[in-house]
Amino acid sequence: MGLSLPEQYPILITAGNLISKINFYYIFAGLFIYLMIRPYIYYYKNRKSLAPGPLPLPLIGYWNIFLIGDVAQNKYNLSEKYGEICDITMFGHRCVIISSPKYLKELFSPSVHSPYLRRLPLTSGFIELGMDREGLLLNCDIPKWRHNRKFFQQSLSPPSFLQLCTKYTVECCEENIDYWNCIIKDNQNQVIRLDEWFRAFTSDMMGLVAAGSKEASMKIQFMKSTNQIYKEKKIEEEENKGEIYRRLRSEYADALGFYIFVPKLLWNLPFIRVAAKYYKNILNYLTDFEIQFIKERKQQIKIEKESNISGQNSKVRPDFLTMLITQNIDDDPSPDEIKQNIREMFSAGTGTTTTTLCSIVYLLAKHPEHEERMVKEILSVIGNDDRITSSDLPKLPFTEAVINESMRLYPVVPITYRYSPDQDTKIGDYHFNKGTIFAINLSHIHRNAEYFENPDQFIPERFLGNWKERIPQYAFSPFGHGMRSCPGKNFSMAEIKVILATIYRKYTFKLVNPNEPIQFKFTLVNDITKMEAYIERRK
Ligand code: HEM
Repeated sequence: MGLSLPEQYPILITAGNLISKINFYYIFAGLFIYLMIRPYIYYYKNRKSLAPGPLPLPLIGYWNIFLIGDVAQNKYNLSEKYGEICDITMFGHRCVIISSPKYLKELFSPSVHSPYLRRLPLTSGFIELGMDREGLLLNCDIPKWRHNRKFFQQSLSPPSFLQLCTKYTVECCEENIDYWNCIIKDNQNQVIRLDEWFRAFTSDMMGLVAAGSKEASMKIQFMKSTNQIYKEKKIEEEENKGEIYRRLRSEYADALGFYIFVPKLLWNLPFIRVAAKYYKNILNYLTDFEIQFIKERKQQIKIEKESNISGQNSKVRPDFLTMLITQNIDDDPSPDEIKQNIREMFSAGTGTTTTTLCSIVYLLAKHPEHEERMVKEILSVIGNDDRITSSDLPKLPFTEAVINESMRLYPVVPITYRYSPDQDTKIGDYHFNKGTIFAINLSHIHRNAEYFENPDQFIPERFLGNWKERIPQYAFSPFGHGMRSCPGKNFSMAEIKVILATIYRKYTFKLVNPNEPIQFKFTLVNDITKMEAYIERRK
């Protein structure tokens, strides 16, 4: 009798086949992923307070909002979806997106003792950039930040400085107008890249105001747009130095993005290592360059002081750098501190103004009735050819309303941050542990229908008259609020007003693609990507 197979044999065979087909690597990988995800689900469900928000991803939390799409738009969408307080996690840091002015009193406190004097926690990128302890923007060392803020503010505040800025802005506008007149001489309806022109303008302008450096950005922009080669319009030696400085600063802007967004953990990987080394070199060149001209200026000031040279005979320009050096004794602030303050004046003051100017042109081109009213006001105050002075600026309320309304719809800093490493916070019904980052969603707040009727429409009139009584304080914050608000606010408002007044009385602009939305790229601020417009002489 032969061996008979057990009845369940076919079933065993099938099971055996199945088992042999299972790849145990997948099982282990699945188990590993489950074990990684589990703490996040646990954390999500058991947070001390349950503010709404998306489920954090394993290890990276909600870091994908930095990796996919536009960060500012992603945060805007999260506020739309989850409401006024939205809880996310980024690399182990709890981050709360706030999009209502109701919760900002404490975070935007104007007190020197506020626990929210820091903007963001310390990162290895900030340390590499030296920004953790120098300058203002990302300085986490509060005594040092206070020290610098005092010098920064004192240098920008004197009325004489504002007058000087107005004068420099007018000079740059006149140079710009010369170039534009040349460009449209034979060809009305010429297309120009407004983003590039405004970038060149703000760069030259800031060069004069910050460090007295004569730059040639507009000249180069002119040559580029008219296809002239550099040799035809010679770049002077002084301008050449300015051009090197401008290029180093532009590379520095890329370095900022690298150090802030690429974690140190990755700096030694192939390819990334090359970039890390390149940016390190850029930082070193830029520092050497800056320290050199700060020392030269200090020396010049010292010599003139000792020889009692002043007024017309002085060769020292009365710019921000001179202000920083002369308002103190001995070596305080040190060349390193001065260097960082100057650097931040450039990085915080050029892109922001460029984007704001482009937004204004964009909105006015879409609303010619508001442009007409603004131009009428400008002509009635300064006429067709007179030079604008700082005393004319308060007489332009509608122009100011246009600027405010543009900054409401397109705030160049769509999100600002506050952070306390040592104090728990209660916001609404929610409790947040110390170390939580608060992302204040200015762009979302600015479009809140509770405070702005027809929030998506361009209505400059809402900023006329006693608007500060009608609009709650924190509902409109293009320059932030409190101790870390923008120290360049008055300067920028004056600069933008002068530019609009000088340019709009001569020209009008039509968008090349009027149906396209305005395009920004968010790094730390919203940068305009491209804006083409037809430029026409005003009749
Ligand atoms: C349209 C132009 C500008 C806009 C819309 C703007 C907006 C802002 C905003 C929203 C902040 C953050 C405020 C907060 O967190 O409460 C800020 C900070 C800052 N801005 Fe501006 N800004 C502009 C131009 C300038 C200019 C021209 C300068 C330099 C003169 C400047 C220097 C700074 C600095 C140094 C900080 C950091 C302050 C600190 O942390 O203590 N900004 N700006």
